[in-house]
Amino acid sequence: MKEEKINLTFLKAHFNELDEAEQQLINMAKSAYSNAYAPYSGFLVGAAVLLENDKIISGNNQENVAYPSGLCAERVALYYAGANYPNVKVNTIAISAKSKTYDITDVVSPCGACRQVMAEYQQKQHKNIRVLLHSSNNKVLIANSVEDLLPFMFNSEQLRKF
Ligand code: THU
Repeated sequence: MKEEKINLTFLKAHFNELDEAEQQLINMAKSAYSNAYAPYSGFLVGAAVLLENDKIISGNNQENVAYPSGLCAERVALYYAGANYPNVKVNTIAISAKSKTYDITDVVSPCGACRQVMAEYQQKQHKNIRVLLHSSNNKVLIANSVEDLLPFMFNSEQLRKF
C-alpha cells in the first residue's frame, strides 16, 4: 500500500482585490439571492455565470414542498446558460448566499451535484471554469478549475465505448 497526495489550489482574496468584472459578477450573484424561492430552508443562494460572450446569467435556489424537487442556484443558472447559449463557453461562476436563520460568515460551498454539473460543462467546453465563492464578510475563495472542487471526478472519458 502506498499513500499518495494530491494538490488542490485555491486563492483567497478580499472582494476589493478583485477586478471590476469579477466584483460585478459577485454583485450579480448577491442580487440574485434576493429573488431566491427558499421558504423551507430560509437559505438564499445566488449564482451568476459569466459567459465568453460577456453575457451574465444569474439564478437562485428554487425550493419545493417535495424537497428533492427543488434545485440549487448554481444549477438553475448553469442550465439556463446551457439551454439558451449552448455553444458559448462559461468563463466564471460566482456564488453568494444570505440567511436570517443561519450563520453563514464562511463562503458557500457548492453541493456535490452542482460541482458535477460544473464539471460537465468544463469538460464539454475544453476550458476551465473559474469559481468564485463569496462570503457575507467579503472573503472570496477562488478556484481556477472545477477540478479543484471535485478531485477524482467522474468524467466522460470513463463512459467511452470500446
Ligand atoms: N443551495 C444552493 O442553492 N446552492 C448551494 O451551493 C448550497 C445549497 C440551496 C439548496 C436549498 O434550497 C438550500 O440552499 C439549503 O440547502
